[in-house]
Amino acid sequence: MMVAPKPLFHVGHVPVYGDVILAPMAGYSDVPYRALCRAYGSAMHYTEFVPVEVLLGRQVAERFRMRLDKQPGERPMVFQIFGNDARLILQAAQRIVAWGPDVIDVNMGCSTRKVSGRGAGVGMMPQPALVAETFRLLSTHLPVPVTGKIRLGWDAVQQNYLEIARIMEDNGAALIAMHGRTKSQKYDGRADWDAIARLKQTVSVPVIGNGDVQSPADIERMKAHTGCDAVMIGRAAIGNPWIFARRCREDVGLVDVVTAVRRHALEMARYYGESLGLTQFRKHLKQYAAGFPELEAMMPTLLTATTLSEFENYLAEVEIRDWRLEIDRSLISNL
Ligand SMILES: Cc1cc2nc3c(=O)[nH]c(=O)nc-3n(C[C@H](O)[C@H](O)[C@H](O)COP(=O)(O)O)c2cc1C
Repeated sequence: MMVAPKPLFHVGHVPVYGDVILAPMAGYSDVPYRALCRAYGSAMHYTEFVPVEVLLGRQVAERFRMRLDKQPGERPMVFQIFGNDARLILQAAQRIVAWGPDVIDVNMGCSTRKVSGRGAGVGMMPQPALVAETFRLLSTHLPVPVTGKIRLGWDAVQQNYLEIARIMEDNGAALIAMHGRTKSQKYDGRADWDAIARLKQTVSVPVIGNGDVQSPADIERMKAHTGCDAVMIGRAAIGNPWIFARRCREDVGLVDVVTAVRRHALEMARYYGESLGLTQFRKHLKQYAAGFPELEAMMPTLLTATTLSEFENYLAEVEIRDWRLEIDRSLISNL
């Protein structure tokens, strides 16, 4: 008899079956990349963030509409939006509910001046009344759970994440994800995991910890240190989907990397079309190749490929060179 898997936690009524989650990353966590991460075990997916103003226009620009695409069966799927006006955030959320998210998330962590400078992203954190109204409206009027992704606060002095988290929870947030840095830190310094532990002790909704998880050992360390319900991984997952299978990057061989590169390139080509897909794939490819001299040496050639078959041929060349090396090595060791 098949035993049904047990959810590790719920976002409102939505079950989540794992504890490692790909972070939303604009320019990276698109449909093709998420397909790879899901295959290796990422338990829940966020879209790249989308500004609410774009969603309220008469026609949503294609590049933003694509950000809210998802694959059949890609669940739970969290659509992430950002804005600085509670009513507009609600209207945008109501519009995209028809596109099938399991959860809607409000980005309260983006630190770029363009976003935070106008009171959106982490710019919401110094505005507790705006946070309260946003979560009250969304949790009252949407048929799906509402969550938020925050930072510690604006700067070292204004670390108001506990106050903001309580406000979110009191106004219906079903989960809080936190990147353990302030706005002024951007990505500098180390993420504060003690703060994530304090957040977990303060709220009763599930907490996702985020920041500086780079290896399977870090996943366990963050969980033990903070008690968080799940760990979210961003930069360390680029070119490294194996982290979702709790596999160390050092243990991944060239054959595995070439297999992942082949699959990822194919997903990109299918989704964006061959030429654009391969261009968009370049930034991923550089990360996959890191630490593999055979692949790094082939990089200038691989980057010129404009069709999938060209790309495949160059990849096959990498494999052939690797086999030749293997054969040479075994001949030498048998001498
Ligand atoms: C290129 C890039 C794009 C990002 N885009 C988003 C985004 O769209 N939404 C969001 O909430 N966070 C975004 N982030 C922040 C990440 O989700 C995450 O919080 C941050 O990278 C810290 O986690 P890490 O140390 O595992 O990378 C982005 C980060 C990077 C590096």
